[in-house]
Amino acid sequence: MRTRLDQLVTSALQQGSAVPAFTCYDFTTALAVVGAAEESGRGVILLVAPKTAATPNGLRLIAALRGLADAASVPVAVQLDHASDLAVMADAVAAGADSVLADGSSLPYEDNIALVRNARALLGPDVVLEAELGGLAGDEDRAFGADEAGVSVAGLTDSAQVEDFVSRTGAGLLAVAVGNVHGKYKGEPQLRWDVLQDIAVRTHIPLVLHGASGIPAEELVKAASMNVGKVNFNTELRTGVLATLQEQLPAHRADGENLQALLGHWNRSAGGFATAALGMLTR
Ligand code: 13P
Repeated sequence: MRTRLDQLVTSALQQGSAVPAFTCYDFTTALAVVGAAEESGRGVILLVAPKTAATPNGLRLIAALRGLADAASVPVAVQLDHASDLAVMADAVAAGADSVLADGSSLPYEDNIALVRNARALLGPDVVLEAELGGLAGDEDRAFGADEAGVSVAGLTDSAQVEDFVSRTGAGLLAVAVGNVHGKYKGEPQLRWDVLQDIAVRTHIPLVLHGASGIPAEELVKAASMNVGKVNFNTELRTGVLATLQEQLPAHRADGENLQALLGHWNRSAGGFATAALGMLTR
């Protein structure tokens, strides 16, 4: 069923839990995620990457996700993730996204604020806006981006900027950089709980933790107690699907090029991951 992303997240936080958000590059994954949410009776967020939304087929995917979300028996929101291009935001919303991460985190502070304000002016009051303060290392679409030269340099959220940033952007949710990275962590994740706590006392809007892949379940649960109401997964979902496809591919090629059965394995891998994430966040 259709839901406002901010309301979904706020009501989860009131119960001491966070809502998982999963990047969907394709409809098979989205079907699995929504199926898992329906089975667990919990709401969920479908994320669309900006590179996906920047293509005509990507906009068709958003329209399909909108239909899937509206027909679901649990609340489902569709969010354009990490967008910095206003035209892509407008196209994604026209196609059916009900929320946008207006991501100016790689810009100077004032330009970051201006991007979120421009997004609000363009998209109107009904679209839920997430904003990001602080820079996450890594590449949103590639697992090993944090290892490569040229990717954005990590910078922790400056908690002293939080009140000003939230009030001037009017953002409904705030993505933070507290030691989290996109893609695989080098070693164990080292979340800066002191910084997160300091952010949490400075704003009442829900916080968002990107780069949740690889963060232990108990730490995600602990983060929810510090007002982190949305956690974003991509890499771990892809790792599972790709490993499953690699393992199953030879047998299904031999079985008369059986793509339909292979898609069933894809669905079960993505659905199993989503079920586990929903379970760990809502216990
Ligand atoms: P991971 O790929 O590290 O799980 O991060 C996903 C994410 O933050 C999407 O916005």
